[in-house]
Amino acid sequence: MRRKIVAGNWKMNMTPSQAVALAKELIPLVESENVDVVFCVPAIDIVPVVEAVKGTKIAVGAENMYFEDKGAFTGEISAPMLVDAGVKYVILGHSERREYFKEDDVLLNKKVKKAFEAGLTPILCCGETLEQRELGVTLDFIRLQLKSDLAGVTAKQAASMVIAYEPIWAIGTGKTATSDQAEEVCGAIRKLICELYDEATAEAIRIQYGGSVNGGNAAELFAKPDIDGGLVGGASLKADFGKIVNY
Ligand code: PGA
Repeated sequence: MRRKIVAGNWKMNMTPSQAVALAKELIPLVESENVDVVFCVPAIDIVPVVEAVKGTKIAVGAENMYFEDKGAFTGEISAPMLVDAGVKYVILGHSERREYFKEDDVLLNKKVKKAFEAGLTPILCCGETLEQRELGVTLDFIRLQLKSDLAGVTAKQAASMVIAYEPIWAIGTGKTATSDQAEEVCGAIRKLICELYDEATAEAIRIQYGGSVNGGNAAELFAKPDIDGGLVGGASLKADFGKIVNY
């Protein structure tokens, strides 16, 4: 049985002092025995939030990182820096990074491999636009993303990671994919992992759904056999996040 994993993606919200206040507000609401909980926070909030969650089971994640260990890459943050600060997870390939910061699958493949090398667990995002869904190429597109992003990743590494299926048309729009739509793609992703690796890897890898997850729809989504939790944006900044974790 895979353990569910619910990760909050705080995006570019919360100053360091606001982040500590939010973490402290959420901690008593999200302590669950049965679910892994992650706060993915802006880089500048990592150190104080790691401190705030000390002594709880909540892990801290980053929202991005660079693939080089160090050097002349002004403004970037490396995997070893994240690890040293106490980070366990890193979101890679979020659609906002792909769109606004022009991150492509060749770059993301380097980041995924570096995350593993450093001992971080990637939360690798994939997902189609509304146009792609209407053209009927959702699964083709996601196959292309994941095959490229996972090139050179071993079965053992893949088994330990998290993939987040986030249809772009459902992010921040209040328009959630139906649980059947989400399950169809998450199931197809698991089949792809079986094809790329083997059955055991496909059974072990955790696949989240993301896109307007909230306290009211989490239970139905997470009841689906191939949905192992959620990547949560807007609702992760409110007490509603507790309802999602305790779905
Ligand atoms: P949302 O964001 O929950 O606000 O739709 C999800 C995400 O972008 O990870």
